[in-house]
Amino acid sequence: SQNIYILSIESSCDDTSAAILCNDKVLSNVVATQKIHEEYGGVVPELASRAHQQNIVPVVHQALKKANVTKDQLHAVAFTLGPGLMGSLLVGTSFAKSLAYGLNIPLIDVNHMQAHILAHFITEDGYKKPEFPFLAMTISGGHTQIVKVTSYFNMEVIGETIDDAVGEAYDKSGKILGLGYPAGPEIDKRAQLGNPKAFKFTKPKVEGLNFSFSGFKTAVLYFIQREVKENPNFIAENLNDICASIQYTIIGILMDKLKLAAKQTGIKHIAIGGGVSANSGIRKALKDGEQKFGWTTYIPKFEYTTDNAGMIGIVGYLKYLESDFAKQDVMASSRLKI
Ligand code: KG4
Ligand code: ZN
Repeated sequence: SQNIYILSIESSCDDTSAAILCNDKVLSNVVATQKIHEEYGGVVPELASRAHQQNIVPVVHQALKKANVTKDQLHAVAFTLGPGLMGSLLVGTSFAKSLAYGLNIPLIDVNHMQAHILAHFITEDGYKKPEFPFLAMTISGGHTQIVKVTSYFNMEVIGETIDDAVGEAYDKSGKILGLGYPAGPEIDKRAQLGNPKAFKFTKPKVEGLNFSFSGFKTAVLYFIQREVKENPNFIAENLNDICASIQYTIIGILMDKLKLAAKQTGIKHIAIGGGVSANSGIRKALKDGEQKFGWTTYIPKFEYTTDNAGMIGIVGYLKYLESDFAKQDVMASSRLKI
């Protein structure tokens, strides 16, 4: 059968990304991470939109070049419709529409959160694809959800955060500790060098499969303020242990809910996705679940954890097979649901 080439674009937050897929294989996946937000300790929406404007054409150009594919070979253009920052989404949406219109090929809209989950269906050496039904825990800077996935496009959110996302818990804890943005990767690195039981943070009490992280962030803040009052060098002297203790608590919160979800649904195929699934601790805890609970687990390849267009492209391909195309008047949606 014919090879299908898809160009995909991701611009929902602070990464401008373009990928080329041939069927379910990623030929190129270019990500321009916006450095500008580091100075502000968080994503500044206005600056993100501007950076997308600057990056989008060079990133698309590079993706085509790396894949050794020309525009004329493309069968469709896929793009992130939402959820995300409106100004950021508009850049990718408008670009994708124009390109599809100019090339006279189908336009395919993609839900960013579905993409974090369906990234597991990219064909990669050494990675197996999930069996339906499976549970997917999507953990990122914007979301924390447990999703029951019955088929590619049949997904049900069975638990989610009632306030902050888990990535925010990492990033805000990092800010309190004076670390750069985003702090998740550095906390993870230091956590591996520290004692996870050095300091104790209480886990929030939330009903059922929902999560809460805003109380945790406040607990970290009060704890640090109290300790620094006693010893101004407290952070510097204990940074690895603080990071290890924060990470230990966060992973405990995530795993408690995941275990409960597996028990309630009877589903033992468990996947993770989103930026925080790059975390070494959660990867290990999930893997341990294979022995402990008889789970089959799916951990994404590192490059498909944080925001990237490869994951948008695989959804584009799956929708292409069903001729599920978008109309040219489709509108970006910052609060799009799964
Ligand atoms: O999926 P993503 O790139 O963007 C959103 O859709 O939010 O996720 C970004 C989040 C940030 O909060 C970042 O701190 C976190 O993922 N992150 C990590 C790690 N790598 C990225 N958190 C913990 N450990 C990591 N290794
Ligand atoms: Zn994301």
